[in-house]
Amino acid sequence: MKICVLPGDGIGPEIMAQALRVLRALDLDFSFEEALLGGCAVDATGDPFPEATRRLALESDAVLLGAVGGPQWDTLPREQRPERGLLGIRKTLGLFANLRPAILYPELANASTLKPEVVAGLDILIVRELTGDIYFGQPRGIELRDTGNGNERVGYNTMIYSESEIRRIAKVAYEAAQKRNGRLCSVDKMNVLECTQLWRDIVSDMARDYPDVQLSHMLVDNAAMQLVRNPKQFDVMVTGNMFGDILSDEASMLTGSIGMLPSASLDANNKGLYEPSHGSAPDIAGQDKANPLATILSAAMMLRYTFAQEDAAQRIENAVKTVLAQGYRTGDIYEPGTTLVGTRGMGDAVLAAL
Ligand code: NAI
Ligand code: MG
Repeated sequence: MKICVLPGDGIGPEIMAQALRVLRALDLDFSFEEALLGGCAVDATGDPFPEATRRLALESDAVLLGAVGGPQWDTLPREQRPERGLLGIRKTLGLFANLRPAILYPELANASTLKPEVVAGLDILIVRELTGDIYFGQPRGIELRDTGNGNERVGYNTMIYSESEIRRIAKVAYEAAQKRNGRLCSVDKMNVLECTQLWRDIVSDMARDYPDVQLSHMLVDNAAMQLVRNPKQFDVMVTGNMFGDILSDEASMLTGSIGMLPSASLDANNKGLYEPSHGSAPDIAGQDKANPLATILSAAMMLRYTFAQEDAAQRIENAVKTVLAQGYRTGDIYEPGTTLVGTRGMGDAVLAAL
């Protein structure tokens, strides 16, 4: 089981260290090899996704990533920014399916800003398309144009999806719904955007092949509202890259902290990249404050989806439940009466529970 380890920037190295301690404690036959991605790669090589990283990622079975980015790289040209490294590795590995569970652990019911009765027991899965949409569409840019108000700058991007791209992500979502509670909600903006009209048509056509899945559609603005009004109405949600980016962050907050949420990004053969849903949290980097649980739970998803080690995945997930029940909390999920620990202290607690 060859794992490419990309700690990245900000809190990335701190949270990755804890995830690796947990994986090593399982005593499975892993080989770990580290490489640079993001701002650290820009500093070392000038390229956010260097060739050596590309090669290692391609020859590994799975990639475990911390997070990339930070204010010190925000003034670089877009092509050199850390986020480009992220988009590049997703594209290189063909990781078109991003799976983001939002689960509310009972111990954290008060960590959510929503009323406990609205979120208690929440367990939804957002399936976000990851390699298409307006984030990759051409043409794009900022340029001078005569707009009728004289020559001025215009900014533009292109929202584009092909039929095959929609089909393959919808298939992942339908199959996920089959394994869960059999409900799939497809989110679009078909009243305004042709691209998402095609999305709705194709997802609807495919419903015939999944008679055991109950399909519904929702416009993205309503979906944003329903996620805070009554999130438990959802089981699996499927949507495009941009809407999924926003909705999955919104869903993550229902659970109290983005520091708890893992993610998997898969290709057609279950090769995957696993990373926490949050970013590099520069505001708390280097202070032993970051919550490592999202990264540790991402490692569990890696064992489940790429390596089919369901037992080991559950051992990690149960250890996380144990430490929450024992009252250990990092700052992002702390409440009075619990035990505040740092990044490493949380890793210690998970290891002890394992
Ligand atoms: P962020 O997720 O890094 O931070 C948002 C807030 O959540 C901050 O207050 C942060 O302290 C907190 N937070 C995040 N992760 C946490 C953890 N594990 N434990 C405790 N608190 C945590 O998002 P932000 O601030 O918008 O972006 C910061 C940088 O990260 C930017 O450069 C951005 O581009 C990058 N980024 C990278 C991502 C990735 O690597 N996949 C995803 C999102 C942002
Ligand atoms: Mg995001």
